[in-house]
Amino acid sequence: MVVWERIRRDFPVLGQLYDGKSLIYFDSACMALKPVQVWEAMEYYYKYLGACGGAGRSTHSLGSETSMLTEDARNKMASFINAESPNEIIWTRNATEGLNLVAATIPLSKDENVVTTTLEHHSGMLPFYKRCKETGSELRLVEAKEDGTLDPADFEEKIDDKTKIVSFVHASNLTGTVAPLEEVIKIAHEHDALVVSDEAQFAPHQKLDVRDIDVDFCVLSVHKACGPTGIGVLYGKYDLLKKLDMYMVGGDVIEDVVYEGGEVIPKYLPPPHKFEAGLQNYGGMLGAGAAVDYLQEIGMKNVHNREQTFSRKLLEGILELEKFEVLGPLDYKQRAALVSFRPESDAVNHLDITEYFNEMIPNYKILMRSGNMCVHPFQYQIGINPGKGEGVVRASLYIYNTMNEIDIFLTELENFAKVID
Ligand code: ALA
Repeated sequence: MVVWERIRRDFPVLGQLYDGKSLIYFDSACMALKPVQVWEAMEYYYKYLGACGGAGRSTHSLGSETSMLTEDARNKMASFINAESPNEIIWTRNATEGLNLVAATIPLSKDENVVTTTLEHHSGMLPFYKRCKETGSELRLVEAKEDGTLDPADFEEKIDDKTKIVSFVHASNLTGTVAPLEEVIKIAHEHDALVVSDEAQFAPHQKLDVRDIDVDFCVLSVHKACGPTGIGVLYGKYDLLKKLDMYMVGGDVIEDVVYEGGEVIPKYLPPPHKFEAGLQNYGGMLGAGAAVDYLQEIGMKNVHNREQTFSRKLLEGILELEKFEVLGPLDYKQRAALVSFRPESDAVNHLDITEYFNEMIPNYKILMRSGNMCVHPFQYQIGINPGKGEGVVRASLYIYNTMNEIDIFLTELENFAKVID
């Protein structure tokens, strides 16, 4: 049985009084807090190793142990998402870098197209937009429905035999929508298109089994999964990774750089090292390994069940007030553990709300993000104008939140609604 009070104690941020107030952290979709176990793994690297890893670089004891532990972390990450091999796990700086990497390196020609959706985070939209501009390929957009859901039939309409890539967000950071991933993957594969999924908001909260869903590439953001900042993961099926063009080049991606007949001839390593140029974030890798160990120990099913109970309460509580427009599907079962909303009244905007909850509540600071969550196109689509400063407030949950915190938030939101009435 998971002792959630003990889990919460692993996050000392939550035990402090900040400006004399207790913290209610509702911003985990942006950045999850880190448990002690993650810092300890990183501390071990910085305190006792501090050396460079990487195949065949520094073979002394500190270098060898660094390489051994970072490869162990790669194994842990592979097991976390059930990849077939750790060689399918590429360390990146973040999910954004992974998306840029695949967008830039999947061979793409002028007569081919890329299909994505209006619900993408800009990091899922712009790398493909840019690549299509560069190659003259067509970017086809599946429009999410007004309620933020994605319909497989709309993908079916856009995907054809000239579709090279279908890329979409598995769980939206704006609407919480969980995409019909398996249906879309099936449609894409019927047309021999490659599927890229953005798992930044899904993998930290629910079991992701890349082999079961048969996705070709996906990205994860370790800092949203209790891990450190500055490290992400790109997963790709090994045979597909082998076929991608090079991305960043330099040290550590090569077997040899021959100089012959006045010419330089690089011989590149196979994946994953092919994509990990230069010295890496070794401490971050150890932190990433510790983060997924931490989550696996709790059990992703337990994480999901708890979050679903909480997000149901949060969603239904906000809707019951009848003072706020909620983005995304209204059925909690179709959503990730976050709710974006905005006041129906023009008297206040999203920034007023986050400021109020940060500053004005007695005894508590309730920390939420407001703005556009880097998903402008969908907001334009539904009539919210980021260009004019319009936006939403987002409350997002994770393993350390409690039902009591949600009750406090809903009571305070009700009080706030009375004030602006
Ligand atoms: N950091 C982004 C967010 O807050 C993904 O939604």
